[in-house]
Amino acid sequence: MNLRHQFECAHVEHAEILEFLKVWEDVLNLLASDDSDARHRGLRLLQNLEPKIVSICEHCRQEEDDPESPLFRFAESADRGRMKDEHFRLFRANYDFRTEMQFATVSSTADLVQQGQRLLAALRGHILYEEGLLKRFEQEQLRTPELVAQ
Ligand SMILES: [Fe+2]
Ligand SMILES: [Fe+2]
Repeated sequence: MNLRHQFECAHVEHAEILEFLKVWEDVLNLLASDDSDARHRGLRLLQNLEPKIVSICEHCRQEEDDPESPLFRFAESADRGRMKDEHFRLFRANYDFRTEMQFATVSSTADLVQQGQRLLAALRGHILYEEGLLKRFEQEQLRTPELVAQ
């Protein structure tokens, strides 16, 4: 995979996660509804989303571990440290959210909604930060023609 393609893949993955966060947010809005049928539907829909929620952690792990990931490859030590720290917090928040999912019932969804909204905000902030880095690295790296062919 050449470098241009590696950057494209990284952007596409982030765009897909951001799209998924909208779906997740819609489900949280159902869970926040005053209508118990809507909350019930929200709980069932949320269960179906769990594999995708887990897969966000896999995305972050891959960013750190895959030697082809342009994000960690070109990042300076301070940015790598910040990303790892944010990943760690996101893994924990992701796990805590899924744990809370197990205890939520139609009559008690408020904590789950709150945790979910905090997690969504943290994920959006994290992706925004990573996209800023990626765009900068892309400009720097693809300016040098011999690197593009690698
Ligand atoms: Fe990412
Ligand atoms: Fe990440």
